[in-house]
Amino acid sequence: MNIEGKVALITGAGHVMGIGYAIVRQLLGKRVKGVGILDINDENGREVLDILQNEFGEHRVIYVNCDVTSKTDLEGAFEKVKTHFGKLDIVCNNAGIQNEVNWELTLNINLMGTIRGTYLALEHMGVNYGGSGGIVINTASIAGIMTTSHLPVYGASKHGIVAFTRSIASNRTFKENKIRVSAFCPAKVDTPIQD
Ligand SMILES: NC(=O)c1ccc[n+]([C@@H]2O[C@H](COP(=O)([O-])OP(=O)(O)OC[C@H]3O[C@@H](n4cnc5c(N)ncnc54)[C@H](O)[C@@H]3O)[C@@H](O)[C@H]2O)c1
Repeated sequence: MNIEGKVALITGAGHVMGIGYAIVRQLLGKRVKGVGILDINDENGREVLDILQNEFGEHRVIYVNCDVTSKTDLEGAFEKVKTHFGKLDIVCNNAGIQNEVNWELTLNINLMGTIRGTYLALEHMGVNYGGSGGIVINTASIAGIMTTSHLPVYGASKHGIVAFTRSIASNRTFKENKIRVSAFCPAKVDTPIQD
């Protein structure tokens, strides 16, 4: 797939050891026009921004503070990325946590944040909304396919992402708006979420 010249937005890509950061590096290496990184952790986000701007060019990456549990935050961040780069083609809903104590937050970030991001992608990329269509990629997990007795709510959130993505991928409105939606399910990766 040729993604040269495309503009991408990715949530939860603010850590150098994270999966989101690895995705951003791949996108920039494959010559996308620009990437907007959205994260809640500004210190880590600025570190990532510095590294990427030095390596790939100052004008190809921006960092936006954004809490995916806030619809207002997410809407503002989508606007910023689109205004900065002039368009939006790829949305990666990647932010996630593993917190079984504050399990409401886990559902709010992992599942509801992904749903928020997917519906905003429709409004910002859909052909019936003035866009050119695009792609949404949701980070699920192997915990979205198999049972995880030690992480029941995390597993539920990821099963939710898989179910939502599979349904919305064949949804008529998304098809009419030329938005393709998919998810991927990594197994264990050594990232800060494991801490
Ligand atoms: N590491 C693994 O083994 C593994 C396996 C399968 C799936 N995943 C998924 O991959 C994704 C990325 O996780 P990771 O492993 O790279 O860990 P990570 O902790 O490096 O990445 C998560 C990022 O999300 C950010 N974040 C947390 N809450 C947020 C919020 N409210 N709004 C915006 N950003 C927020 C964090 O600051 C962090 O940068 C997650 O969805 C995770 O569930 C990870």
